[in-house]
Amino acid sequence: MTLILGIETSCDETSAAVVRDGREVLSNIVSSQFELHARYGGVVPEIASRAHVERIDAVIEAALEAAQTRYEDIDAIAVSDGPGLVGSLLVGVTAAKTLALALDRPLLAVDHLAAHAASAALAPDFAPNGGWPAVALVVSGGHTSLYLVRSALDQTLLGQTVDDAAGEAFDKVAAILELGFPGGPAVERLARGGNPRAHRFPRTWINEPHDNFSFSGLKTAVMYHVHGVGKKYGDIAKLSAGEQADVAASFQAALVDVLVAKTIAAAARAATPHIVVGGGVAANGALRQQLHDACNAHALKLTLTPGAYCTDNAAMLAALAYHLLLAGQTAELSLEPRSGLVRPVR
Ligand code: KG4
Ligand code: ZN
Repeated sequence: MTLILGIETSCDETSAAVVRDGREVLSNIVSSQFELHARYGGVVPEIASRAHVERIDAVIEAALEAAQTRYEDIDAIAVSDGPGLVGSLLVGVTAAKTLALALDRPLLAVDHLAAHAASAALAPDFAPNGGWPAVALVVSGGHTSLYLVRSALDQTLLGQTVDDAAGEAFDKVAAILELGFPGGPAVERLARGGNPRAHRFPRTWINEPHDNFSFSGLKTAVMYHVHGVGKKYGDIAKLSAGEQADVAASFQAALVDVLVAKTIAAAARAATPHIVVGGGVAANGALRQQLHDACNAHALKLTLTPGAYCTDNAAMLAALAYHLLLAGQTAELSLEPRSGLVRPVR
């Protein structure tokens, strides 16, 4: 039995988790800072790193306690070293290095996106669905990417967004509709009462034979629809509640149509019969339902990452880190966070 303590601080969630043998989550504590950033309409890096410093010790202690584990029972320490906000990452990386040194345990550096791509392995139906290989759709606030995952540690980027990420589009449309931050859940709630066919927003590159995405045109179309062409700010109150719901539903339908169609096409091109989905936007109910229907229609297996492991969390890191440990891919204590550089696996 191998117990890994995972630590995640790449953006605005302070998280620690204890995972047994890469599959069984004994604890997964997530302290979200959204209340600190809400009034600014987005994550403020300096506020995020300060909050991580204040919370990290208590979050790690809480993860050990919830797992009924002591420091000395932990076999390795895993941390996300990027991509993310450097000041935020630094807090988790420093905590992990300190624990690895003090406890004399291996340090494992996990790529945040590789962890999202492999997070479906935490779903109960992952192995029955055939496990790896799979085409992974990672949809988060910072990234929208398709990977071919041959095994946990063998991931190839197939394509990604050239501008806005899907979560970013949700957050910006929420700002246009004055729904607050983070926007994804708020847009989804509003969309439930709207007509997804009320407006035909653009579905960029939906039938193009490549695995890249572009969502900035969709966001701009929504903005012009709400505020009028050429104007950036308008009075949202001029739309009735029903009209706002129609905009939210039509936006969500356009974005989900693109994500689903391009993921199915990527699986066909890669000749891979299994699709997995992770990242914050994978918590979206409309996306989950439409992926389910499309995979059924195309006789593909689908494993959706459980909701708790879609948004940023340390359990997904500890799960992937297990494979790094087995492969002997440990990190040095000189490990430093990296902001934008995307490495294929860690
Ligand atoms: O993976 P994540 O927690 O952080 C990043 O690594 O970016 O993703 C956060 C993003 C935000 O943009 C948020 O609005 C979006 O995921 N999100 C959602 C939903 N829940 C979170 N988007 C749509 N529907 C949701 N239910
Ligand atoms: Zn993330």
